[in-house]
Amino acid sequence: MSRIVPAPEPGSEQERRETQVLDEVIASFENTPDERLKQVMGSLVTHLHAFIRDVRLTQEEWDEAIAFLRRAGDITSGSRQEFILLSDVLGASMLTVAVNEPARGDATEATVFGPFFVEEAPRVELGGDIAQGASGIPAWVTGTVKDTDGNPIAGARLEVWEADDDGFYDVQYDDGRTEGRAHLSSGEDGSFRFWGVQPTPYPIPYDGPVGDLLRATERSPMRASHLHFMVTAPGFRRLVTHIFVRGDELLASDAVFGVKESLVKDWVEHPAGTATPDGREIEGQWNSAEFDIILAPAEEGDAEDPSSAAPTSQVPQHSRPE
Ligand code: BEZ
Ligand code: FE
Repeated sequence: MSRIVPAPEPGSEQERRETQVLDEVIASFENTPDERLKQVMGSLVTHLHAFIRDVRLTQEEWDEAIAFLRRAGDITSGSRQEFILLSDVLGASMLTVAVNEPARGDATEATVFGPFFVEEAPRVELGGDIAQGASGIPAWVTGTVKDTDGNPIAGARLEVWEADDDGFYDVQYDDGRTEGRAHLSSGEDGSFRFWGVQPTPYPIPYDGPVGDLLRATERSPMRASHLHFMVTAPGFRRLVTHIFVRGDELLASDAVFGVKESLVKDWVEHPAGTATPDGREIEGQWNSAEFDIILAPAEEGDAEDPSSAAPTSQVPQHSRPE
């Protein structure tokens, strides 16, 4: 490990040498025609330089940082996005959600999108089974989609996806299965209902450099148990969120900082032999959860058809953890 060079005296020649580099870099962006790009790059280099000076970054540490990014690039592919994972574990994904999704009345809170959404998941009718064979305790999920005035939203599109009780999404298996995901529409009264499986905790992929970082910092890769939703309806803001499980001991240590108290729901256990709401025959225990969803009105700049695209920065990440 190389020696950490102490901070220069205020007003010293060494301090001038260090800050002069930033002045030169800022000046190099002077002619940027796009004002927003100029602002973003200026701020980025200002914070980057402040960080390097603050920790007195050693050459060895900078080389290691470059090697880390190189490994992240090497493992990234069409089906694996290590940079999104890095953003997630550094809280950058959730901070971007926090900045862009401030509280809008009592609209349902948003959380991290995650890498396991798949376009064109199968459609199920109201009351259908999104598990499609995924292992786990059957869970009946119900709720109503409403606007911020309490009016029901008919025909809202709900995309739902979840891991099985081994902690894997369908896309992490290499047999092409489609399980634990579907889309459905809310009914005339805004209500929805479907069977899924009880969410269980699972690790984010930790077989790459992000996993190395978690190990080096003695952090857990585990996500609190959750069920993902993306809800869209014309005239409303797209909602990307999850519901969590009250009592889950990982709520306070979610690897990607996605938990919000308003999204923690009771999952009620119904012992074997209890009748199901729709007459479905289930041999063992089944569970149920309720989640009413409130959509905020669309704002200037929102997509006209919010169901047309997933959040654009997100690339599916389909690799299976080691
Ligand atoms: C997920 O919930 O699917 C997820 C979110 C962030 C990183 C990895 C997985
Ligand atoms: Fe997830």
